[in-house]
Parts: sequence; structure tokens; C-alpha cells
Amino acid sequence: MAKAHEIVEKNLPLLIILTVVAVSFGGLAEIVPLMFQTQTTQPLEGMKPLGALELEGRDIYIRDGCHTCHSQMIRPFRSETERYGHYSVAGESVWEHPFLWGSKRTGPDLARVGGRYSDDWHRIHLINPRDVVPESNMPGFPWLMENTLTGESTANKMAALATLGVPYTQQDQDGARALVEGKTEMEALIAYLQQLGSALPASAGRK
Ligand code: HEC
Repeated sequence: MAKAHEIVEKNLPLLIILTVVAVSFGGLAEIVPLMFQTQTTQPLEGMKPLGALELEGRDIYIRDGCHTCHSQMIRPFRSETERYGHYSVAGESVWEHPFLWGSKRTGPDLARVGGRYSDDWHRIHLINPRDVVPESNMPGFPWLMENTLTGESTANKMAALATLGVPYTQQDQDGARALVEGKTEMEALIAYLQQLGSALPASAGRK
């Protein structure tokens, strides 16, 4: 036995391989069950995929880098749930491609910001945050008011997401353009923000 130990300790490649094998047992024991638990693989009951305008808003959120300052992941700590509401659950994110959880918070977490402010508040805030929050260091995004959407690729985006398991129907895709065409980027982004967190019903302790 002592001999076997010596062989492993003096043979670096073998030691590395056996270390990786040993560590991966821990990883497998933690990760594999998550792939099979309905709690982590199934959407919440009654959850709907983003509407056409909200979907475009989400892409603007990504394009303009909102996720570089805002997380969408409320951790199960009292300090977080008191401030932001119910902690994030896996079922809320199963249709997120790519997910926007993040970990950097230059600004507050936005996972449940939906409904917290009026559309007007968001519009003023996004044009120039300091008009409503004087000490804010968030940049303004005034072009959102000027750019309008054509909606020409919204249906294709839905089709792409459908291949990843998001339940968009043909009907959703057919109607997408009409819901988006002519709307400003501001309207789309606000529509997206206003639904954030709404998948988890109030009965689950949402604030
Ligand atoms: C450079 C970092 C930064 C970027 C980029 C940024 N924000 Fe912010 N955001 C902040 C900070 C800091 C605050 C807190 C002060 C305030 O309310 O303006 C904030 C606040 C907010 C709030 C209010 C949240 C609350 O609970 O009060 C919303 C909504 C918001 N941001 C949305 C956005 C959106 C949408 C974008 C992208 C278009 C964006 N932010 C980009 C830093 C940023």
C-alpha cells in the first residue's frame, strides 16, 4: 500500500489524472442531480415566454450593456430578500438564453424590478438617471427614444429560441412583427423591465 502511494506521488501525470478523477466525483454528485430535478429544469407553473416587444427589449438590454452593471439574481440571504424580494428560483430562468444572472452590481439587482416603478419613471430615468435619482452614476440612454424597431427579425428570434425549448408557437411568430413595428427601443426596454420577476407569483412571497 505504501508503495502504491509512493508511485502516485512521484508520478506527476498520474497524480494529476487521479486528482481530477477524485475531484470530479464531488462535482458529479452536486451537478448531475440538478439536471434531473423538475425544480431546476421545469418552468414555473403558468409561466409564459416573453412577448414580442419584451423579447426585443431584452436584446436592447444586452446590447446596451445593462447586464454589466445590474445582476438578475437575488441570493437567498436576508439582506437581499429584504431589499429585492423573494430570492431567485431556477424555474424562472429555464427559458433564458443567454441567462443574465451576473454577479457585478454597480447598480441594484433588477430580477424583480417589474412593477416597482411606473413606465414614466423608467423613461425619465433611462434618458437621464439624475433627473430622478440625483446621486446616480448610471449613464443616460437617450437614443432609446429616437430609435424605432422594424420587427423584421423578431419572429426569427422566436424561432431560434424555440429550438432551445422556449415554447413559442407559430401564432406567436406570425403576430410578432405587428407588435413590434414602429415601437421605440424605449417602449421595448420598458416592457421588458416591467415584467421582470413576474413569473414568481405573489403567493410565493414576492414583494
Ligand atoms: C455604469 C453602470 C450602469 C449601467 C451600464 C446601467 N445602470 Fe442602471 N443603475 C446603475 C446605478 C448605479 C443605479 C442606482 C442609481 C439609480 O437609480 O439611478 C441604477 C439603477 C437602475 C434602475 C433602478 C433600480 C431600482 O431598483 O431602483 C433601473 C431600472 C436601471 N438602473 C435600469 C438600467 C437599464 C435598463 C440599463 C441599460 C439600458 C442600465 N440600468 C444600465 C448603474 C448602471
